[in-house]
Amino acid sequence: ATTLRDAATSRGVLIGSAVATGPLRDDAAYQAKLGAEFSTVTPEDDMKWARVEPVRGQYDFSGGDRLADFAAAHGQTIRGHTLVWHHSLPAWLTSGGFTADQLRAILKAHIEAMVTRYRGRVAIWDVVNEPLAEDGTLRPGFWLDNLGPGYLADSFRWARVADPTAKLYLNEYGAEGGTAKARGLFALVTSLKAQGVPLDGIGFQTHKLDTTRLSGLADTMRRFAVLDLDVAVTELDVRMPLPANADRLTRQADVYGWAVSACLAVPRCRSITTWGFTDAHSWVPDNYPGWGAAALFDEGLSAKAAYYRVLTTL
Ligand code: XIL
Repeated sequence: ATTLRDAATSRGVLIGSAVATGPLRDDAAYQAKLGAEFSTVTPEDDMKWARVEPVRGQYDFSGGDRLADFAAAHGQTIRGHTLVWHHSLPAWLTSGGFTADQLRAILKAHIEAMVTRYRGRVAIWDVVNEPLAEDGTLRPGFWLDNLGPGYLADSFRWARVADPTAKLYLNEYGAEGGTAKARGLFALVTSLKAQGVPLDGIGFQTHKLDTTRLSGLADTMRRFAVLDLDVAVTELDVRMPLPANADRLTRQADVYGWAVSACLAVPRCRSITTWGFTDAHSWVPDNYPGWGAAALFDEGLSAKAAYYRVLTTL
């Protein structure tokens, strides 16, 4: 195969990337690479609440619609990201002084608005993002603090009604291996399934370092698959201290390769999505000062060792 998407298709999985707002609008080289190499796309920020409803009642779907049009033109599926998260919430919501009953109604209406708008176009929703703390208990944050733990089941149920055909995922980071958070996630998901909550899949973000050993991922995914759930690698990137060098780039290729191998080893693993495909547009340098070079392509859109490793692993 000469592209990631052709190689992935032949293995029965999707290969994807998060998509940044600016270059999707105005960078033709970025768009060409995105269309050629990937079979699924995720809006990096364009479907987050702060972005779509910056002013109460005034939805701005322009970024999400642009991505939906691009995906349709390039035969790509969309992972919608994300409906319920403690982060990227608009200020009118977090400092509005709403009662719990009001917030519950606002959250329900938001889920309905998003899922309805993209019904038939977004195949998968990250309904709830990052609900857990590092110790495996529910993470304190806006929704848990205001609504209590019931917000989880409610959110999935509201999303299911709004689009019965979309696959509904819970997405988490730091749960790829044998951590307390991974155990907490398994307990949470077991309990949600036992309550009949409409949960179809688990996303493992997989933000890693070049020094990471990714040994537990396939075993972790298999345990969730036993609960009759799909699984996916949803935000794969592998950062390193800058400047990059050949050793680090080789180790990075190893980590990317392990993530792909893990997904291929688990029949219920549907997709591998990278969190941005070029170092020119990656969240890493902004969020981890001194770190970067985390993507498959460099800043000039040349393929790195990690790209070739993913291609040959697929
Ligand atoms: C990040 C984006 O990449 C940034 O552009 C934004 O400023 C903050 O969010 N886990 C997630 C993603 O689920 O939504 C985050 O994306 C990265 C960590």
